[in-house]
Amino acid sequence: MSIGQKQSIQPLFQPFTLNQLTLANRIVMAPMTRSKSPDGIPGADVAAYYRRRAENGVGLIMTEGAIIDHPAATGDPNIPHMYGEDALNGWAHVVKEVHAAGGKIISQLWHVGITRRTRSEPNLEAASISPSGIDLMGEKAGEPMTESEIEGVIKAYADGAANAKRIGFDGIELHGGHGYLIDQFFWEKTNQRTDRYGGNLVKRTRFAVEIIEACRQAVGPDFPIILRISQWKIGSYGAKLAKSPEELAQFLAPLVEAGVDIFDCSSRHFWEPEFPGSELNLAGWTKKLTGKPAITVGSVGLESEPFDQKDEHEMIDELVERLDRKEFDLAAIGRAMLADPAWAAKIREGRDNELIPYTADRLKDLM
Ligand code: FNR
Repeated sequence: MSIGQKQSIQPLFQPFTLNQLTLANRIVMAPMTRSKSPDGIPGADVAAYYRRRAENGVGLIMTEGAIIDHPAATGDPNIPHMYGEDALNGWAHVVKEVHAAGGKIISQLWHVGITRRTRSEPNLEAASISPSGIDLMGEKAGEPMTESEIEGVIKAYADGAANAKRIGFDGIELHGGHGYLIDQFFWEKTNQRTDRYGGNLVKRTRFAVEIIEACRQAVGPDFPIILRISQWKIGSYGAKLAKSPEELAQFLAPLVEAGVDIFDCSSRHFWEPEFPGSELNLAGWTKKLTGKPAITVGSVGLESEPFDQKDEHEMIDELVERLDRKEFDLAAIGRAMLADPAWAAKIREGRDNELIPYTADRLKDLM
């Protein structure tokens, strides 16, 4: 069985425009860490990897998380930097290649904060930082960040954003999900501060709000700022920041006010309703509550998930129907596009029987 009729995939191939950002279609490559940038410098292989996706018609590439200039932003020496001349030259080449192939690319800015049992352990040589010195398992791990440390990290985000703009990226995404630093401020388990960066869910947005404002200041009014959010955290897939649409609205309002242009709403299965009583997923609710464009993500085109009850073809039909109903604006594809650089082209041309399925060994090389 193949994916619907050609007609039915048309909503995926409609252009999208927001201010100065125009995308040829609604397909986004999800940000995916590849750990293939020795000393933080993305090389020609990284540029070729992203270029292959652009040549095959993906509307927008979101890069893997690139760390901001802070000693504890990651413990992995192969994660790319968004600072320093060599790394920025590397990224400038990536951008040039993607643009030459007709693509658009934004840079995801990242700081892991304090994490445990993740593939990106914090930099053990530098003291890890976190809102309350509490790790994702709820255990004591270091000291709460001081106000001056917070100020320094906010500035590092703004500098990263300015760097990304200067070398030609089409926008930035702030990684505010999955239990990393920004999300550690959002989450009550890891943020137990009693100063202005802690408190109820709205108050816990303060750190992100100041980062967004500083980035906005650094890049100007028209440069797209995307914020990635997630309810789930690494190691706590059932976690929820917002337990109801009302709470989600309260959480999102200050972030909109601060200047987010697009919300990238990370869920593990895009078809799962976020709250009882509605089919809408996190992206659907976010768009409905804020009026801002939203990106969905989560297992699109995957057939290997053991808990997945859906045929991958029906799944793509459902994605397109939801897009057509304008529940969200863009759909990010992670593992399926990591496995197959031609994912977008094959879907467009009805060649889905030729798709290369995702398996873990596709992570080995930059194909
Ligand atoms: C990821 N993901 C991820 N997310 C993010 O915001 N920044 C990142 O650097 C990474 N890194 C990363 C690496 C790898 C190898 C995978 C598989 C995933 C999450 C990713 O963007 C996406 O949200 C999930 O993979 C779900 O989408 P799929 O794979 O189900 O389409």
